Amino acid sequence: MTPEEFRAAGHQLIDWIADYRARVYDGTLPVMARTTPGEVRAALPPSPPAEGESFDALLRDVDGIVVPGLTLWQHPNFHGYFPANSSLSSVLGDLLSTGLGVLGLSWQSSPALTEVEEVATDWLRQMVGLSAAWKGVIQDTASTTTMLALICARERTSGFSLGAGGLQGVAAPLVVYASAYAHSSVDKAALLAGFGRDNVRHVACDDAYAMRADALEAAITADIAAGRTPCAVVATTGTTASTALDPVGAVVEVATRYGLFVHVDAAMGGSAMILPECRWMWEGVEGADSVVVNVHKWLGVAFDCTMHLVRDSDLLVRVMSTNPSYLRSAVDEQVRNYRDWGLPLGRRFRALKFWFLVREQGVQRLQERLRRDLQNAAWLAEQIRATPQWELLAPVPLQTLCVRHAPPGVHADALEAHTQRWCEAINRSGQAYLTSATLGGRWMVRVSIGSETTERVHVERLWHIMQQAAAASALVVAT
Ligand SMILES: Cc1ncc(COP(=O)(O)O)c(C=O)c1O
Repeated sequence: MTPEEFRAAGHQLIDWIADYRARVYDGTLPVMARTTPGEVRAALPPSPPAEGESFDALLRDVDGIVVPGLTLWQHPNFHGYFPANSSLSSVLGDLLSTGLGVLGLSWQSSPALTEVEEVATDWLRQMVGLSAAWKGVIQDTASTTTMLALICARERTSGFSLGAGGLQGVAAPLVVYASAYAHSSVDKAALLAGFGRDNVRHVACDDAYAMRADALEAAITADIAAGRTPCAVVATTGTTASTALDPVGAVVEVATRYGLFVHVDAAMGGSAMILPECRWMWEGVEGADSVVVNVHKWLGVAFDCTMHLVRDSDLLVRVMSTNPSYLRSAVDEQVRNYRDWGLPLGRRFRALKFWFLVREQGVQRLQERLRRDLQNAAWLAEQIRATPQWELLAPVPLQTLCVRHAPPGVHADALEAHTQRWCEAINRSGQAYLTSATLGGRWMVRVSIGSETTERVHVERLWHIMQQAAAASALVVAT
């Protein structure tokens, strides 16, 4: 494709995306894809074309085959999983990143790529109210970041075992602690970092599904007594099931006494820290060693863009650094080489999509949108509390509600089936999209509010839809 052909096709594609977003924002399309398994694959030729095709033919298949197979995350009635806002200014930043076609292997391989990332991560640090002691890097996802954090913890505790026999040379097993409601990526990170399932502790939680600092301390002392070495604790600000808030300050206090590394998983809740009134939720965070914030969730940066902030960047660099001759340059002492702050050598210009969003919106508008979502969630929580047969199963500190409808006389198994049935009925109707999940061993429906286009009117409609679907499902139970 020549630059001139790109210009023509690019204009067409931007128009297409703008029209598509307008249709999605309109809220009338079904939120969940109605595709059956294998349907998209069957509609596509099984082998690549021998000769090039027109751009029009490509777009036709996007319209006819791809779009019907999409669940619409940017829809105002998308209330599943978590908000993954992909603001249009951020989309443009992502396009620019690809269009520039540069790679950050080292500072010298594209100085601006590194230095815009330094600025972007420092802007995020300021936006969430962390002190200047923190330095940042952009990773692909929270899962990767948590694994990097646990590898740093492993190395700090083991006196840099990777330079010798690795974990196989360590006398006592190292142990990782996280709440029973931590994201599955924490277990995965611990396993892949070599700790082993036997050395991952799921610490008991309180009634609000947050980690109990006293239970953490009890688990640590039990491990010490058994000859194991406590190594790291992951505290979560906004757990996946219910956005519970582990008590970061109390966790840091215990961890400091026993010399543990503290990683704060604020993948979801971190966006809310741009609101000064929410910062109590991770009070004590300054005492942690690393923090992860997925700005590709609620904040609005197009996926994927994970902010990884660390207090001791020398530790991260010492653990991640490789220094082959072909990557050295005369300025290495004066610059950041971000390849030494994570796993990949080749790095995209991810900072642009954050930088575009924050410059186009400004911090104040981002704050206003998040406050709107918190108010909408509080409004729905009020309705649920005030309505007979409806329950909230957990506190609502952020924008996620854990909801149950419990008609009288319906017990145990029937209630579990009822909960999943009314959720599925809503999803299949296409009117809204919700996620069912278990909390405390019982099924509930998670309502996540925070799509960029979700206004109060959509939440009011959602509440109406929920009541209708639950009433219809309750009739099934009764008959
Ligand atoms: C608390 C928490 N941690 C980690 C993750 C994983 O995020 P990622 O997809 O960026 O790996 C999620 C995703 O939902 C999450 O809610």
